[in-house]
Amino acid sequence: MASPIDDSLPARVSSDCPEQTRDILYHVWGRDWGSVGLKKFFDDRDKATCQDPKTGETPLHAAIRSCGPANGEDDGEEDGSVEEALEILHELFLSGAIWNDVDNNNETPGCVAWRLGRKSLYNQCVDAGVRAELLFALMDSYEQLSSDNEYEEMAEDEVEVEAEADQKEATEAEQDDDEEAPQLKFVPPSAGEKTVTSDQYLESSLTYDPEKLVDSDRNGVMMAWETDIMKRSVEALIPDAQPGKRILNIGFGMGIIDGMFAELKPSRHHIIEAHPSVLEHLAKPESRFGPSWEKSGPEVGAFEVLPGKWQDVVPKLLQAGEVYDAIYFDTFGEDYSQLRTFFSEWVPGLLEQDGRFSFFNGLGADRRICYDVYTKVVEMHCADAGLDVEWEESDVDMSNLGEEGKGEWEGVRRRYWTLDKYRLPTCTFMG
Ligand SMILES: C[S@@+](CC[C@H](N)C(=O)[O-])C[C@H]1O[C@@H](n2cnc3c(N)ncnc32)[C@H](O)[C@@H]1O
Repeated sequence: MASPIDDSLPARVSSDCPEQTRDILYHVWGRDWGSVGLKKFFDDRDKATCQDPKTGETPLHAAIRSCGPANGEDDGEEDGSVEEALEILHELFLSGAIWNDVDNNNETPGCVAWRLGRKSLYNQCVDAGVRAELLFALMDSYEQLSSDNEYEEMAEDEVEVEAEADQKEATEAEQDDDEEAPQLKFVPPSAGEKTVTSDQYLESSLTYDPEKLVDSDRNGVMMAWETDIMKRSVEALIPDAQPGKRILNIGFGMGIIDGMFAELKPSRHHIIEAHPSVLEHLAKPESRFGPSWEKSGPEVGAFEVLPGKWQDVVPKLLQAGEVYDAIYFDTFGEDYSQLRTFFSEWVPGLLEQDGRFSFFNGLGADRRICYDVYTKVVEMHCADAGLDVEWEESDVDMSNLGEEGKGEWEGVRRRYWTLDKYRLPTCTFMG
């Protein structure tokens, strides 16, 4: 069993910590700003982002940790030390402190706040994460729009946003690959580990067994423990199990959700799948979704596996005038920007006015704070796309999912799920 974390100041500031960093961490811990006061103390970004090289302690971690654990359920709203810490966090975030820097216990400041039961501090970290991720997304879209003369065609207020984003980029450039937008079904790698890209995944060979589908690097593409999530997703997309619905599913995997959709006797059932091995598996005579299934539809083309990447297939569906009552999206090896592109650019054209859209919500599922941040980010981006999101939270049975390499994770390279609750999104058009 892992030994308990020592949150004391001597344990968190190492003996070989550079003097300036040590000084800052001690001041934060003691809430002592000398004659300059809190605002001026963090007058430059380097101070707000410094980190003990051995323990990874940042001023954010120190400000939270110095509050100590909350008493029971009460997170200490009345506690003056939390009030002070909230102010310190506020200043630190204004000065460019990074919300998701991890320390040597693999904890972000928000993780420390959650563990100590300090909910108001945790919420402040979530809000900072949401702001940072929204800014990143904005920055990405500007980068796509303007490459050469980047500021030339922008309105004045947009230039300000861009300039702020540039500054943020400079701040965060020092961080490692963990900073990328989370993948839909993949744990952001620990430092030094690589993330599988969509192209690499689509070229890898896959292995099916009854419990899971893994790629050649033993990344879990789909696993049977997710069956309950698929079942809930179908119930959310097609309430009362009404027959005759037009369904689009993106990503076949183990065909778990498609099996459930098929039970509902849809009038149209289209499956988009890009991986050659999955397509081969689908075409086998014993496959439930092979040629005989395609022929069994109420009309030609009603039941179909559409081979290729959704990015290539979906424009053709739109062009052909296809409209669906229920759309589900669950791919692998793609990051959040792809999901966002799908619901912003394609769902409005493909979904019936009173239809429902959902996706596998594995965004940031390797740690609670990332999951909470991405819940809010998705909700805001959906609103931009004219979609309301309703979340249904359900328990995930963690009895066999708790330990890396054990239980369900045996033979799988990394746990991509660590949370005891799943937050299921159901998106509908606003108004
Ligand atoms: C997590 S699995 C889907 C699991 C499925 N929901 C089920 O119930 O079994 C993801 C699937 O998406 C496919 N995929 C990945 N990228 C894709 C893309 N760009 N277009 C279409 N399919 C893709 C993968 O090959 C894989 O079969």
